[in-house]
Amino acid sequence: MTDTTQWIPVALSTSIEPGTSAGTKVHGDEYVVWRDDRGKPHVWEDRCPHRGMRLSFGFVRGDQIACLYHGWRYDSAGQCRLIPAHPDLDVPKTIKVPTFAVAEAGGLIWASQSQDADPKTVPDLPDNLFSVRSLYVDAPLDGCRDHLAEVTPPDMEPAELTALSPLCLQRTAAGSMLVIAFQPLSPDRTALHILVSASADSQTRAHLAIWATGLRFSLENSFARVA
Ligand code: FES
Repeated sequence: MTDTTQWIPVALSTSIEPGTSAGTKVHGDEYVVWRDDRGKPHVWEDRCPHRGMRLSFGFVRGDQIACLYHGWRYDSAGQCRLIPAHPDLDVPKTIKVPTFAVAEAGGLIWASQSQDADPKTVPDLPDNLFSVRSLYVDAPLDGCRDHLAEVTPPDMEPAELTALSPLCLQRTAAGSMLVIAFQPLSPDRTALHILVSASADSQTRAHLAIWATGLRFSLENSFARVA
């Protein structure tokens, strides 16, 4: 059973600019990750309560998001505030988008299905990590995590491995740190969000980006063989 208080990484911070939105998945469910104009991140169910349009296709307006289809607007608590076809209507409180708890740490946006999730349990990471990339891999979460626990990335020999949470591994070597956060998109698809310490030089960052591309192929090949 899924732990609803677990913090799940849903995007690299740098991938969601203020005033933008993007769709993603967690355990097969559609989520919208959006950032208001002041930079605050929000993670909601990606479905407009009117006719089900994805809110990730919508437009951020200040601290609200407007649906692409008929323009219904939702405030930062998910409450519908405006129905353009009926501008004077006092919108019923029942018209609301389910929202998730959100935290931002270590260059990642984290979400929890439970509003009671403890922010102190978000993995403790420095805020100045450099985003290498997000990889979308056709392989299950457990397989990706086991594989990443075994391999040592380039320029990090010998490295020490620490599990900061069930969804976040950290490797440290002299002077540098690599973080891999795992997002379970569906039972057989996983996103790997890869970050490195800001002090890593440009050559190390380039090596990691190349390594990550090869990593996706090796993971997908090994799970294609098993299937
Ligand atoms: S489907 Fe979103 S406003 Fe109609």
